[in-house]
Amino acid sequence: METNLIPLISQDEIAAAVERLAAELDRDYRRRPPLLVGVLKGGFIFLADLIRRMKTPLTGVEFLRVSSYGSARISSGKARVLMGVPRQVIQGRDVIVVEDIIDTGLTTTAVLRYLLRRHPATLRVCTLLDKPARRRTPVQVDYVGITVPDRFLVGYGLDLGERYRQLPDIYTLED
Ligand code: IMP
Ligand code: MG
Repeated sequence: METNLIPLISQDEIAAAVERLAAELDRDYRRRPPLLVGVLKGGFIFLADLIRRMKTPLTGVEFLRVSSYGSARISSGKARVLMGVPRQVIQGRDVIVVEDIIDTGLTTTAVLRYLLRRHPATLRVCTLLDKPARRRTPVQVDYVGITVPDRFLVGYGLDLGERYRQLPDIYTLED
């Protein structure tokens, strides 16, 4: 099936959102340099851009991998941590989870539960995109870049069956 990509968020708009989030994090973490935990795979491009806009020195960057939708556009309703971070890395640290998009909230909930068991000093969530219309479980999101409509998005790290991650802009799909 051919898929048309319809532009939704330009790279300039993304850059402005990343800049603003970096400034908010710099303001809040000036006195306690954080550990950033990126959620793979979708979040890697956002994380890479975000840390280069931040002035606060980081105490580390780690990655978590969570089971994904596979090639489906609809959440399977389950999220499991497949690749984690050792307890001693998290314990006592000021941790910021960095997500590409929060949709149903199931992934973030699983990530927060996983990290809380490792006793961070503080734990917050920063997401580039938030799709609140699809939430199935409430999540406290501390930093939001752009609130998006209930559409499936690709580009800037977001994929459909591993395609489109490399696109600099964000698109919606039309069959
Ligand atoms: P949640 O568990 O439903 O909140 O989904 C979170 C994960 O699903 C994200 O980290 C993405 O990898 C993926 N996801 C959710 N919505 C989209 C989308 O619109 N396009 C691509 N991936 C998405
Ligand atoms: Mg994905």
